[in-house]
Amino acid sequence: MCGIVGYTGVQGASPILLEGLKKLEYRGYDSAGIALVNDGTISIAKVTGRIANLCEKTNDGKDYPGTTGIGHTRWATHGAPSDTNAHPHMSNDGRFAIVHNGIIENYMSLHDELTAKGYHFESETDTEVIVHLLEMYYKGDIRKAVIKTSARLQGSYALGVICADDPDKLYVAREASPLILGVGVGENFFASDVTALVSYTRNAIYLEDGEFAEISPEEIKVFDVALQPVNKKISRIVWDIQAAEKGGYEHFMLKEIMEQPRAFKATIAPRIKEGEIVLDETDLSKEYLESVNKIVITACGSAYYAGCAAKYTIEKLCRVPVITELASELRYADPLIDEHTLLIVLSQSGETADTIAAMKECKSRGAKTIAIVNVVGSTIAKLADHALYTWAGPEIAVATTKGYTTQLAVLYLFSLYTAKKIGSISDEEFNRLLTALKALPKKIQETIDTNSKIHQLAIKYYDNKSMFFIGRNTDYAIALEGALKMKEISYIHAESYAAGELKHGTIALIEEHRPVVALCYNEKIMEKTLSNIVEVKARGADVLALTYKGNHQIVSVANDVIYVPKVDTLFSAAVEIIPLQMLAYYVAKLNECDIDKPKNLAKSVTVE
Ligand code: AGP
Repeated sequence: MCGIVGYTGVQGASPILLEGLKKLEYRGYDSAGIALVNDGTISIAKVTGRIANLCEKTNDGKDYPGTTGIGHTRWATHGAPSDTNAHPHMSNDGRFAIVHNGIIENYMSLHDELTAKGYHFESETDTEVIVHLLEMYYKGDIRKAVIKTSARLQGSYALGVICADDPDKLYVAREASPLILGVGVGENFFASDVTALVSYTRNAIYLEDGEFAEISPEEIKVFDVALQPVNKKISRIVWDIQAAEKGGYEHFMLKEIMEQPRAFKATIAPRIKEGEIVLDETDLSKEYLESVNKIVITACGSAYYAGCAAKYTIEKLCRVPVITELASELRYADPLIDEHTLLIVLSQSGETADTIAAMKECKSRGAKTIAIVNVVGSTIAKLADHALYTWAGPEIAVATTKGYTTQLAVLYLFSLYTAKKIGSISDEEFNRLLTALKALPKKIQETIDTNSKIHQLAIKYYDNKSMFFIGRNTDYAIALEGALKMKEISYIHAESYAAGELKHGTIALIEEHRPVVALCYNEKIMEKTLSNIVEVKARGADVLALTYKGNHQIVSVANDVIYVPKVDTLFSAAVEIIPLQMLAYYVAKLNECDIDKPKNLAKSVTVE
């Protein structure tokens, strides 16, 4: 996720672009840049780091004159954060500059094609192919060049273009990435979201996928792919700036919960090509994978719980033992690790101190390391032999949501990829599961859409000092994460327990009306978990069960039931966790907690 902004009018564009970028900084903040057209030439300023650095470099924009320009704040996906990889990118002839938010999935083949035609690449980004395509297709008509270029792109993009030949105009295109046009008087704008616009105008045009616009200070013309004009309605922006940053949601956590279908899709889609899983970022050959006799997964907090859930998927599909170990424990455990161990490290931030230490320890013992990380260029990503990024975009709320589900996404890809390589599943089973994996973003969306009653359940259960979360196997791993979500944002004591283990001690704590969230998704062990529900109910517990749609067995034993779509049990964590995140969110809200910044916690734990 990145932020883009554009301005054309009579005022100096740079200060407006810089202000807009400050508002969009929450979308990405590893590097930033602006490009201005002035006197028939394009000048570009870009820096690594925050917008403040860009303000310093440009003397708050004063050193970059011009009344038309574009800006970008980056959340790195392809290529580490650096001045060179920062946007805007310029064509070889210096005629075009562009900013882009999204991911170009076919950039490698376009890169090869353009290189063969003599175009020179400066950066490691997927974006740069776009600007060279524009140069290639430009024969004096910018609209046509933009349309021809867009037709070559697979993936997602919100694109802002300036051209030295047409100094007062901005060109924009959109496919599966947000883009809003701001309508002013004698000046017009575009931006990734309304936060960057509301200080200047409250009149907006929402561009749809497949639409293009030519923006001059006086007017905005919108076209379809056939270059036919499209009549667009001007809408009124009613949000204030704070609400706009959160996409209209009250908290970043809720916004991030809602982003999960898109984040999951962004993580898996580019890695599934022609019915195969492609993990270009690794060199996991058949020979190497066959030599692995143990997979160790290490991480902290939710990242560790994602590993716990995926352990079942990897073991079932690959038939290789998977050991999950908390990083803070592993680092001091004198672990039995050698060159036949594949270490998988999970971290949203890529900066967690314990995870880094555990990783170093295992590396020194000869393990090959794969890091599943959200922040490009972070310490863990750099330390690992290979980094597989979760393309979730910046996660602002301290409680992770999309970070966790996208970690599952990569682990599911890894399981299927490995199983296929070492031949532990048949082609038929691989195809069936790949289809199921591709369907997960839709199932996650369906889970979000059909769980409006979670708020009602939160009203029923929020006033409690303690709760239990129980389940077996994957359901137990999800219970761990569900309980952590509840604890960290609502401050309610929430204990997760393997359902079968209750009778060995914990059941002594079950009393009249104690809420027990029971995860009962796995059909094979359904009867067993149902017995545990009956046991806690007999001691007075109020049971809130979570199961798949169509399982009516549960109605007679639970007080309340949350239904989620039926997916393969190997992937069920990705849907089961959604209502638990929502439950924690609404319980915390009803308890008036500081949801995005819970007490005593930090987003990135860089100390031991
Ligand atoms: C989860 O909601 C937490 N805030 C926390 O457990 C987190 O997952 C843990 O600190 C690990 O962080 P990382 O993924 O950035 O390494």
